[in-house]
Amino acid sequence: MFARSLRQLRRPILQQRWAHIGHAHANLRAVTSSDVEHFTSILSPSSVLSTLSPVSTASAELDSFNSDWMGKYRGRGNTVLKPRSTAEVARIVKYCNEHRIGIVPQGGNTGLVGGSIPVGAEGQEVVLNLGAMKDVRSFDPNSGILVADAGCVLESLSTYLEPHGYIMPLDLGAKGSCQIGGNVSTNAGGLRLLRYGSLHGSVLGLEVVLPDGTVLDQLSTLRKDNTGYDLKQLFIGAEGTLGIVTGVSILTPPASASINNVLLALPHFDNVVPLYRQVRRRLGEILSAFEFFDRQCYDLVLRHGQQPALPSDEVSDAQAFVLLETSGGHKEHDEAKLGELLEELLGAEGDAQLVTTGVLAQSQEQFNALWRLREGITESIGREGKAYKYDISIPVPKFKEAVDTVRERLRERGVLGKSPGGVSLVLGYGHVGDGNLHLNVVADSYTDEINDALEPFIFEMVSGYRGSVSAEHGIGSAKVDALKYSKGDASRLWMKKIKDLFDPNGIMNPGKVLPP
Ligand code: FAD
Ligand code: MLT
Ligand code: ZN
Repeated sequence: MFARSLRQLRRPILQQRWAHIGHAHANLRAVTSSDVEHFTSILSPSSVLSTLSPVSTASAELDSFNSDWMGKYRGRGNTVLKPRSTAEVARIVKYCNEHRIGIVPQGGNTGLVGGSIPVGAEGQEVVLNLGAMKDVRSFDPNSGILVADAGCVLESLSTYLEPHGYIMPLDLGAKGSCQIGGNVSTNAGGLRLLRYGSLHGSVLGLEVVLPDGTVLDQLSTLRKDNTGYDLKQLFIGAEGTLGIVTGVSILTPPASASINNVLLALPHFDNVVPLYRQVRRRLGEILSAFEFFDRQCYDLVLRHGQQPALPSDEVSDAQAFVLLETSGGHKEHDEAKLGELLEELLGAEGDAQLVTTGVLAQSQEQFNALWRLREGITESIGREGKAYKYDISIPVPKFKEAVDTVRERLRERGVLGKSPGGVSLVLGYGHVGDGNLHLNVVADSYTDEINDALEPFIFEMVSGYRGSVSAEHGIGSAKVDALKYSKGDASRLWMKKIKDLFDPNGIMNPGKVLPP
């Protein structure tokens, strides 16, 4: 299954050229063999991987922990720790704080902004990988409240909930590898946000190890709790800069009795917005996803192995595609509503004709195949080349203008189509219902020439639309310099004050989110 193949996919990418990073963090020192000895007294020896340990780990064994999913960044950590309990995490963090050793929390390492790998000088940060903390702590089938260790893989939680008739309130293409702690720490959006809202709403409580080793137990299972400041919200989307999430309490929705999806082909992008309006009006509460991708994305996923959902002659003129999903409680009612919408869309003529053709999945297999066309875009981009990824919030009517503007910019700079070393594709896809465009530039390699053409150009463009430079992937190390385009001076100052309050020694995920 696609989602499970993410880890294997990472390997060939890693063999290509890596961008090394490594600016010394002035406040931190490098891990020594006596530190490693101490870690081995806290954790079982098999949970400590280090080039400094007596049973020295080969540095190649650390590669997958030191490199990001895209193969864009490579860190120089020499030690990876895999605690099995919150108490173990707390002891490690306390020691690192006292000894000024940086910590990079790492979940499934599927993040797309270089947040989950070390960026300091060699050995200045340990990677604290949560993958061994993977137990479900409790589930209440009456309320749907799930409490799980941070290292539980998202897909495994969905599988756990299935027999109880519940689903996770979020879903993303990385589900086979990403962990719930990583999802919370990035405030991941994904494909169900339109329906179930953001994690700021569905997360009810967190257990967090603070930078001094204190365990902050806010693992509430209450729907309502109005007792003062809601501290857990600070850790949702903090990208590991304020503490380590070790447990998550989350409200899960009941699985829908009836789910359908439809792929629609549109002659122009301009039809996306009126289509979204019409679909919302007609489908109302049963609409659960409204995703868009442009022509280049469609051709790309087919090139990389997905099956065409529509005959090629019927979509030869299509410039955009929309994948919509419905979930509801009543099969006949939902299908009747969807049927009426499709009849209306396919029967329209002249200017009222928003779509040229479409396909309604008739089986679970077809349903999955339609979703693979959308979810497979990220993986296909990785196979095609090196991705410069921009994950922005801007008004939906401006999506196409933004993609075209960036393409034109690259043409003017002489890097579009240049071979070797040039840009082959400029793609647009994303979550229309959330106003989130994924603008991706695909090239042979990562070069300063392309980077300089794109940045800060794209961030200034986003700022001009009064948008956000990160709709869902976060800031990580990739967008630290871009934060100012979406957060003003006062906001950044207060973010820094909060960081200093929690982490005065700057050990937590240094070099991420905020400038040093
Ligand atoms: P990691 O990548 O390991 O870490 C991400 C960040 O969180 C890092 O800064 C790390 O330090 C921190 N972190 C991780 N675990 C913890 C913890 N327990 N405590 C404190 N900090 C922690 N993102 C979306 O928002 N929507 C999508 O639709 C989406 N689709 C994707 C599809 C694919 C194919 C891929 C590869 C990625 C996608 N992503 C998406 C990005 C990524 O999967 C998500 O951001 C995901 O939530 C990251 O989880 P992770 O466990 O892999 O975290
Ligand atoms: C998506 O929506 O597919 C994800 O956010 C990943 C990506 O941007 O490629
Ligand atoms: Zn996305």
